[in-house]
Amino acid sequence: MSSGNIPEKHPSGAKASVDSAAIAARLKPCPDTRQGQSASCQAVRIRRMTPADLDRVMEIAESLKEAPQWPRNAYRAALDPEAKLRRIALVVEEVATGAVAGFAVANLMPPEAELEIVAVDSEAQRRGAAGRLFAALATELSTAGVVGVILEVRAHNQPALGLYRKLGFAETGRRMRYYDDPVEDAVLMRLWL
Ligand SMILES: CC(C)(COP(=O)(O)OP(=O)(O)OC[C@H]1O[C@@H](n2cnc3c(N)ncnc32)[C@H](O)[C@@H]1OP(=O)(O)O)[C@@H](O)C(=O)NCCC(=O)NCCS
Repeated sequence: MSSGNIPEKHPSGAKASVDSAAIAARLKPCPDTRQGQSASCQAVRIRRMTPADLDRVMEIAESLKEAPQWPRNAYRAALDPEAKLRRIALVVEEVATGAVAGFAVANLMPPEAELEIVAVDSEAQRRGAAGRLFAALATELSTAGVVGVILEVRAHNQPALGLYRKLGFAETGRRMRYYDDPVEDAVLMRLWL
């Protein structure tokens, strides 16, 4: 699952602590809440995914053709603290309604982690939800000793590429014709936390 060819250490040689402020600064700023919240900054909170979220999480994934389609058992394994491969799974929910609008899953192999999925319901897209999910994830990953996050993405997935570039990910390589249905290259990316 790893994209391989990734150095095991942060280029500085030192263990980095995540600069979630820097990640947040690359995202859409929220206006002063005393003036009310804009559509792009509706009150959302990030929390750990639980088994009770799985229907909604799968509904979101199934509604998005670019999202990886995991079976329920894969999500269950992602929530299992005893699983061999450790994962962090987060959801973003609207504070007012508790409605889950998106989610992200990363696996941990410190000093590295792989961002496996990030998905936001089409109705909630372009309001900063994915960026906020990743900022929270990066903080948790850093606490767990991760210094670099890798991922692979379809070469034509412009929303995802735009998101990753905005978060500071840089392209590290390509895997030709890596994906099926449709056949497409994978772009490999990495972010040092
Ligand atoms: C990729 C995805 C998660 C982005 O979610 P989102 O909540 O809309 O993203 P954000 O609002 O946090 O966007 C942050 C930045 O990403 C980039 N971005 C997001 N959507 C974009 C789009 N449709 N086109 C170009 N850039 C886009 C922009 O730079 C955006 O900043 P801006 O709005 O200030 O310009 C969402 O489009 C999605 O769920 N896609 C389907 C699933 C998927 O492909 N996941 C990735 C592979 S697992």
